[in-house]
Order: sequence, then C-alpha cells, then structure tokens
Amino acid sequence: MAGVRTSIHGEWSSKLAFVLAATGSAVGLGNIWKFPYVAGQNGGGAFVLIYVACVAIIGVPIMMAEVMLGRRGRQSPINTMRTLAAEEGRSPRWGLLGWMGVLAGFLILSFYSVIAGWALAYVFRTAAGLFDGATADFTAQVFSNLISDPEKLIAWHTLFLIMTMVVVARGVAAGLETAVRFLMPGLFVLLLLLVGYAMAEGQFVHGLQFLFAPDFGKVTPEVILMAMGQAFFSLSLGMGAIMIYGSYLPHDASIARTSIAVASADTLVALIAGLAIFPVVFEYGLQPNAGPGLIFQTLPIAFGQMPGGAFFGTLFFILLVFAAWTSAISLVEPAVAWLVENRGHTRVYAAVVCGMLTWFVGLGTVFSFNLWSDYRLFGRTFFDLLDYLTSNIMLPIGGLLIAIFAGWLMKERSVKEELKMDDSLGYRLWRFLVRYITPVGVGLVFLNVIEVI
Ligand code: TRP
Repeated sequence: MAGVRTSIHGEWSSKLAFVLAATGSAVGLGNIWKFPYVAGQNGGGAFVLIYVACVAIIGVPIMMAEVMLGRRGRQSPINTMRTLAAEEGRSPRWGLLGWMGVLAGFLILSFYSVIAGWALAYVFRTAAGLFDGATADFTAQVFSNLISDPEKLIAWHTLFLIMTMVVVARGVAAGLETAVRFLMPGLFVLLLLLVGYAMAEGQFVHGLQFLFAPDFGKVTPEVILMAMGQAFFSLSLGMGAIMIYGSYLPHDASIARTSIAVASADTLVALIAGLAIFPVVFEYGLQPNAGPGLIFQTLPIAFGQMPGGAFFGTLFFILLVFAAWTSAISLVEPAVAWLVENRGHTRVYAAVVCGMLTWFVGLGTVFSFNLWSDYRLFGRTFFDLLDYLTSNIMLPIGGLLIAIFAGWLMKERSVKEELKMDDSLGYRLWRFLVRYITPVGVGLVFLNVIEVI
C-alpha cells in the first residue's frame, strides 16, 4: 500500500520545511545569473512573457506531478519510477527516466559549480573594495581576468563542490532549513535594495520597457524553446530534484499549494533580479546580450557607486553563493539517494564519488572560457552546449515523460489519493493541463525547433 511507505532517508520536519527546501532548490543562479542574461540575449519583453506563461501552465502542473510521484514512491527517482510503474502495471523501463535525471543533474552541476565559483570569487573581490568607484570598463576587465585564468576557476570550482558535497554527505535536511529560512529573505531584501538603486540612478523606465514591453517581432521558435528551458531550469524541474524533495514530504501537506508557493517565489526573484540589472545595463551603455558575464559586469558598477557598496556587495555575493549552494545540493541528491539505496554505500562515500565525477566534467566548462574558447561543437562552446543540452532538451523531455506518466499512465484513483484534491476545480484544471497542455506544448516547441534546424 503506497500510503504507508516512508523514506529511508528521512522526512522534512514540516510542510514549511519542504517549501523552504524546494524554494532553496529553485531559487539560485538560475534566477539571478541566468535569467537576466538569457532574457537579454533573447530580446527581453516577449521572452519574459513566454517564460512566465511557461511557468504557469507547464511548470506548476509538472512540479505538482513531480512532488506527487516523489511522495508516493518515497525513494530516489530511479527507484520511485520503477516502483510506481510496477504498481500501475507499467514497464520497469520507467526507471530510465530516473537515470536520465541523474545524468542531467551531473551535467548541470558540473557547470553550475563553476559559475557559483565566480560568485565565490566576487565575494572576496567586493569585500576588498576592488569595485569602489568602478567603471564599466574596469568591471569588464576584472571579469575577463577571472575567466581567462583556468587555475583560479578550478580553485573556486573545487571549493564550491566541496561545500556542496559536505552538506550532501551530512544529509539534506540538516542545515538546509535554517539556511533557507534566514538567507533567502536576506537575498530578497538585498535585491530590493538594488532595485532601489536602479530606480534612483539607472535608466529604470528603459529597463522596465526592456523586460515587460513585448516585441513579438523578436519571437522565434528558438526564443520559445529558450523560455521554456529557462522555466524548467529555474524551477528545478524535469530531473527528479523536486521528485526526491517530494519524497521527504509529510503526508498531510497540500501539493498544489506548496507548488504554487515555490513557483511564485522563484518567478518573483527572477523578475526582481531583472529589474535590478537592466536599468544599470542601459545607464552604463552595456549590452543586454553580453552573455554569462552580465551580472558580474553590471552589479559591481552599482556596488561601486552606492554608499556602503562594498558592504552590500559582499553581502549580496555571499547570499548568492548560499542560493547556489542550496540549489546545487538538489542536483546530486537523486544520485546519492540511489547509491545509498541500491549499492548500500554511506552518504559520505556516495557524496565523494559524485563530487569527483562532477569535478572532472566541470573542467570542460572551466576550459571553455579560456583554453578551449575557440573550439565549437555544433556551433557552441562546451559550456554553451552543456547548458543547451540540459535546459532545453533533457529537462523538457524529463518533464514531458513525467506529465505523460502522471496524466495518462497512472490510475486516476492513485493520483487522487496522493494529491488529495478530491474533484475540485483545481484538480480538474491540473489534470487537463498535465494531460493535454503540457505534452502538446512541449511537443510543439520541439517540433518547431527541429523544423528550423
Ligand atoms: N533551479 C536552480 C536555479 O535556478 C538550479 C537547479 C537546482 C536545477 N536543481 C535543479 C535545475 C534541477 C534543473 C533541475 O539556480
């Protein structure tokens, strides 16, 4: 009976703990580093609108489905999918969905850790007062000095991975709750402070227009795919991270309400980050499509100009590191849980193995900014390729399969038992979205892109 299954890895102490942990997973570099630069590269307004639409009609339903599957299976995504497939009379090959998630998690963490390393490096650069009175040219120079030095990047990447694996080895619940409960609100307040600066000193209206006035002439199938991929990435969907967090969720928590809360918080943080960054971008004549260095080149200018900037800037990068930390943990948790369940390893051993593997793959991202910056595979650098492959292909495919399993292959009785929404309007809306809109939406985006290629 699924109702009595418990997780061998423990359970969150409360519903709030789950919301905090899932928010910790969702809010990270994706919101503050990636959202602004991807929005900038894809023309702003229309991209943002499509992104928000993807969060609401594809993201939230898939998040509910992932949490639901996780809580019912109570194991690593691989074993959860296998168990549930058996219970529902489906092929054991559904375990492959869990495997794809583990692979996606490794690939994402390998570059995530390198970028989080940049944030770590900026904690120290800001604290040292390096950016006091900085100009745009100077911050660009500092950034380029950092990324062109593989040794530095490797050192920061190593440090961040060690931090991540230490938490994973100790068990996800310990520490995570406190970190998210106090640091996330702190990050939010600092972002608001930056928006305040952008309003006072930047081209705020220009920034607003860029982010919220859609120019549909800029919409291509590729832009839609990027927006959808960003929604999956930012909400941590499609690889089992939210599924495994759901597997630690107490039975009485409302899946719908918690999912909507997490998705709203995540989206709010991304939009506010955009509002803090673009007015500064325009004020200093920077390019919105500058790419992955965007926040590292713009925010230090703001910190360099505002009173107390070295202090606020240091605090900001510390909190950004924390946000990245709580996200990174969820990227390896499915793999670690599987190693513990099926191989009988300790969490410590599992974390060390996963950490070393990720470290090696991460070198590819490190070199793609310097030694290998001229090499292109399918027209992209190693980092770009990994990012594209995971966000825009693997995560949406994972999400599509999750929607199909939850919407079409599970008995409706099982779904209802787990979601506990009876026959409410909300339930029927969810079911409609998961059965029709999500699969058709993701499918159409893929088909369109394939045609263009
Ligand atoms: N959502 C996180 C961010 O925005 C990154 C992340 C954590 C993630 N876990 C994930 C992305 C699982 C995809 C899948 O920074």
